[in-house]
Amino acid sequence: MAAPILGGKLALESHAAAPALSLAGDSSLAREEYVLDVTRRGIELRGGSVSAVLYGLQSLRQLAFENRGTIPVVRIHDKPFFAYRGAMLDVCRHFSPIGEVKRFIDILALHKLNVFHWHLTDDQGWRIEIRRYPALTQTGSVRRGTVVGDHRTSSEYTDEPYGGYYTQDEIREVVAYAAERGIMVIPEIEMPGHAVAALAAYPWLGCTGGPYEVMRTWGVSEDVLCIGKESTLGFLKDVLTEVLELFPSEYIHIGGDESPRKRWKSCPFCQERIRREGLRNEAELQSYLVRRIEEWLRDRGRRLIGWDEILEGGVSQDATVMSWRGTRGGIEAARHGNRVVMVPCDYFYFDYYQTHDPARVERETVATGRPDDVPHVTVRRAYEFSPYEGLDGGQRQCILGVQGNIWREYMVDFRQVEHMLLPRLAALAEVAWSCDRRDFPDFSRRLFRLKELYDQEGYRYAPYFFNGTDTVPQ
Ligand code: ACM
Ligand code: ZN
Repeated sequence: MAAPILGGKLALESHAAAPALSLAGDSSLAREEYVLDVTRRGIELRGGSVSAVLYGLQSLRQLAFENRGTIPVVRIHDKPFFAYRGAMLDVCRHFSPIGEVKRFIDILALHKLNVFHWHLTDDQGWRIEIRRYPALTQTGSVRRGTVVGDHRTSSEYTDEPYGGYYTQDEIREVVAYAAERGIMVIPEIEMPGHAVAALAAYPWLGCTGGPYEVMRTWGVSEDVLCIGKESTLGFLKDVLTEVLELFPSEYIHIGGDESPRKRWKSCPFCQERIRREGLRNEAELQSYLVRRIEEWLRDRGRRLIGWDEILEGGVSQDATVMSWRGTRGGIEAARHGNRVVMVPCDYFYFDYYQTHDPARVERETVATGRPDDVPHVTVRRAYEFSPYEGLDGGQRQCILGVQGNIWREYMVDFRQVEHMLLPRLAALAEVAWSCDRRDFPDFSRRLFRLKELYDQEGYRYAPYFFNGTDTVPQ
């Protein structure tokens, strides 16, 4: 069990009869709580679960690294503040083969996060093999070209086809790899918006019937799934049936964000559904879809999670809301007693600019948000997020945790992903583990040591925090 984390990098010698390193479960500890005891006689690590022991091993790895292989006598007793500590990777706008996905998972494990949210379908590519619908990957995983530069101003495209997808065997391999590191993989299958790749494969899923083309540029499409036709619901259930076989996670993410209602307004099927179901408007039509999928998932022992737009036409108590447009949706959901994961874009979108220095901003890859938008998502800003603002004691119970997002429009290769992820992910991990005992100067000191570990592992990271260029120039 220690091998994936400690690797061959730590040679443990014992001069006593006892083993140099003993790992044990301890039912008196909370599920994610661990106690790491390093004495002259050896190292004893106890945890309330396998995951908890893994966190202890990560701490041991850091200790060994920071002390050049000699572990000091120390006792660490820790447990995370939040049960949900996640990071999302978009593989639709730009793709990562599973080697890179595993590297992303390794980075999450180093930061003691426990959820990998895998954004698998979008307008620009469908990335998961579904046996029953082969065109999703045959057609839907490839776009004809890709917008060059900032999509808000560019009308230039490459004419290089761009594609990629995961076979079901690869998905299983990634899920198992993550599980060995204490990480749950939550798949995201987007509906009803961000679904143009599916429409291109099966045009009958849309209101107009198409034809549709896998999108070459970023943004939001007016073409979305037709909720009027029962065949769309059948398709979604078929897809999710295969998804549930691959992913054991309690939560299944159904997207739900940025779905324009224009097509539904002029679609006879959608309008007929609205009439027959007594819905008041198109916002309730989206809620109708979410409710049907939510019930279907619940019958199979799973929970639905979606972006905060799923609140707009009313949402069932059992849905979990991922608040991304700031914290407003999360606060509203928690006040209704829904479970919430906080992913506010102005704190935890790691595709946003991470330095205020205009000269540096120019040298960043184009990022989401505009260079002159303030505030940028600096390390300090992410660190200072207050997950409970606006909530009373009971409502706070609804906040499951926090997550950072990597949207890949402008991150063509994985080195850029690392540059945007690190070191901001460390600030997120700090909120997730210890937002009740924050101390920025102390965190800063520790982050400089973590940076050396990034160097050893060959992880790329942004330099701005470390060289003092991420703050607003005075
Ligand atoms: C999102 O960023 N559209 C969830
Ligand atoms: Zn329709």
